[in-house]
Amino acid sequence: MEQISFLPTFERWQAAARRALQNAIEPGQIVWEEIGEDQPALYLFEEADPASTPPSKFRVPKRFLALAKLVSLHREAGRWPLLYRLLWRLTHGETHLLEIAVDSDVAQAGDFEKSVRQDIHKMRAFVRFREVEHGGEKWFVAWFEPQHHIVEQNAPFFADRFASMRWSILTPDRCAHWNGKTLSFTAGVPRSDAPGADQMEELWRTYYANIFNPARVKVHAMQAEMPKKYWRNLPEATLIPSLLHEAPRRVEMMMEKSAAKKAAMDGEWYPAPVPETSSLTTVRGASRGCTACPLYKNATQTVFGEGPKRATLMLLGEQPGDQEDLSGKPFIGPAGKLLDRALEEAGIDRADVYVTNTVKHFKWEPRGKRRIHQKPSSRDIAACRPWFEAELRIVRPSVLVCLGSTAAQALFGPSFRVTRERGRVLESALAPRVVTTVHPSSLLRQPDEESRAREYALFVQDLGVALRAANEK
Ligand code: URA
Repeated sequence: MEQISFLPTFERWQAAARRALQNAIEPGQIVWEEIGEDQPALYLFEEADPASTPPSKFRVPKRFLALAKLVSLHREAGRWPLLYRLLWRLTHGETHLLEIAVDSDVAQAGDFEKSVRQDIHKMRAFVRFREVEHGGEKWFVAWFEPQHHIVEQNAPFFADRFASMRWSILTPDRCAHWNGKTLSFTAGVPRSDAPGADQMEELWRTYYANIFNPARVKVHAMQAEMPKKYWRNLPEATLIPSLLHEAPRRVEMMMEKSAAKKAAMDGEWYPAPVPETSSLTTVRGASRGCTACPLYKNATQTVFGEGPKRATLMLLGEQPGDQEDLSGKPFIGPAGKLLDRALEEAGIDRADVYVTNTVKHFKWEPRGKRRIHQKPSSRDIAACRPWFEAELRIVRPSVLVCLGSTAAQALFGPSFRVTRERGRVLESALAPRVVTTVHPSSLLRQPDEESRAREYALFVQDLGVALRAANEK
């Protein structure tokens, strides 16, 4: 038997595994031994430093690398021999091994990967920072007990999300620190090093109580999603017994939402934290912190809908543009001005209308100094949908007007054609009556005065159809 001692990181394992492959050492001949940073390495080969390891002549599918990176974060020591077995088989004639889902090594690696992903997701969802004084400055500290070795992998997410705060996430394995500029890591600490309660907790409790849904409860689902071991670290956990006692059916909403969205849990797609409430102000407030898709990273702010809660007409655009992104208000730029004019001409007072967008963050790419609009992807649209559904649920307009194909297709699916259906009163599961029309920005893009005037008149006509449908009741 050969023993390979290595620092248990993906890079170190990869370097050692490459050398083992080059030396044709079969999986059954290796004992993989994890060592700590201060332990002397007992290398079978001279130190397997990833930086000095020559590129491998063995080729593996890209998918293996992605899989191995996640599997390497699993807590089970058996992950290293498992990964080497897969590597060996992939490079010894079984090129398509990863496609065989029933193979026991592939299935095992898949289970490990899934469990690591879930842990990453849980950490993102359940880390709660507490404010402390540190060297005369504000510092935010959180305690979390990850199931796997995910702290380093997950830290950039928090650095991005809480870029303007200085924070530390303490865990028993590894601690991550962000000083506003750089991430650093130190050894794990005991629970007693983490700070206790303060006013931040009250805030979390209020938020948590707000998102409780009185309609249903499934305690088992809740425990599965947020195992009891996490409860004691969450300020809102103190509410749980009383909420369970007072209204057993109030518990589930948040858990169920997370569970339903697990399918979406690949990459950076996380459930939009939509509170279950009839208050638009609360939902709008919660939308400010939405990170359900990556668009929040480049946008200035979430642009939520605006207008009276009792509006009978709701207008749905595509996404905020440059000016909307800066001001935080929908449809105030050039397309918005044209929309205002057309509404007035159709006999509609914009102040009576609820105006919103399918996607609530501005998606753009830089071109010189300008930010150029990019069409949202179906994934962006799906991630944002819970916000729009909440607006619909609260405002309950008689008529929803979809402005342009993004909005219309968000309701009726990708094969819907505004050019064919515009100006007709349609039904949908989301709103009793829907009228679709072109997006006002398409009027701005008309090639000449004549077509602009013609298209504008049709647009006003479609808005008139919506108004009459709303008045019919
Ligand atoms: N275009 C949209 O679809 N929405 C806005 O808010 C602005 C421009």
